[in-house]
Amino acid sequence: MTQPRHFLEIDDLSRDELFAVLDRAEEYKHAQENGEDHEDLDGQTLGMIFQKPSTRTRVSFETGMTQLGGHAVFLGEDDIQLGHGEPLKDTSRTLSRYVDAVMARVFKHHNIEVLAEYASVPVVNGLTDDAHPCQTLADLLTIREHAGGFGDVSGSESTGGASNDTFDGVSVAWVGDGNNVAQSFAIGAALAGIDLTVATPPGYEIDDDVRERARELGGEPETTTDPVEAIEDADVIYTDVWISMGQEDERDVRMDDFEGFQVNEELLSYAPDASVMHCLPAHRGEEITDAVVESDRSIVFDQAENRLHAQKALLSWLLD
Ligand code: CP
Ligand code: NVA
Repeated sequence: MTQPRHFLEIDDLSRDELFAVLDRAEEYKHAQENGEDHEDLDGQTLGMIFQKPSTRTRVSFETGMTQLGGHAVFLGEDDIQLGHGEPLKDTSRTLSRYVDAVMARVFKHHNIEVLAEYASVPVVNGLTDDAHPCQTLADLLTIREHAGGFGDVSGSESTGGASNDTFDGVSVAWVGDGNNVAQSFAIGAALAGIDLTVATPPGYEIDDDVRERARELGGEPETTTDPVEAIEDADVIYTDVWISMGQEDERDVRMDDFEGFQVNEELLSYAPDASVMHCLPAHRGEEITDAVVESDRSIVFDQAENRLHAQKALLSWLLD
């Protein structure tokens, strides 16, 4: 039996495959906007395991499957035997007999690897403690759409028919925690050819192996502990929560450690033309202010929308 193709990390795709998925996402977006039929997964079913809460991931995958002519089944951990002692490897093999693909949001990254090891259908990472590659797909789609509006990007087009070099000259600054979203984005940026600077407090850097993988892809990010230094030449400033799901006990320490890393109007004054991204949910008043989320600089809801288009493209590509 041929092994299914999984999507556990953004670099499970080659550069060409990444661009193929982004192109397909753009096609689906246009098809949906124009009311054109694109039921490419007619009759297929996605199983969705959630060990953590979700708004965007759950709704975009479920809606996406419906729009592709398929169906999604929500499997909250407590609602299935997984949450009551059934091993992951048994859950994986059982689900594989029913559904055409599995998407899972789990705590330990190792657990998505176990799911994939035992699955005979594609497994998609819907967020682990270490990675959030579906978010990165949407982020890259969003950056590509906006690339024509960035200051020093030459030869790029704003939308539609964007070429593979659209990311050339795009500069992104990550400000905040070197968390799951940051780590997948760092590797995705390297794959896409984006210049990335990561500003974190000491002790919150992205993992060494992530830097190494980005380096091997030709795009090791710059790192700093100074948010101003990171954003000065950035086209995009990207942040995420300081306290990720599962880190609630670290709240007090983290709130102290991240002081000075808030994306607010004062910080943005050092990068007057930069757009602002956030994977959402945002904790306004912590990592970002209400005024910034609501400002013209913010492209956070384009990002959120693009989860839908990017994941439809990913699923249909995996199941082709
Ligand atoms: N960005 C993201 O994954 O959001 P949810 O937690 O709402 O799915
Ligand atoms: N870093 C956040 C992302 C949520 C989508 C978390 O893991 O909670």
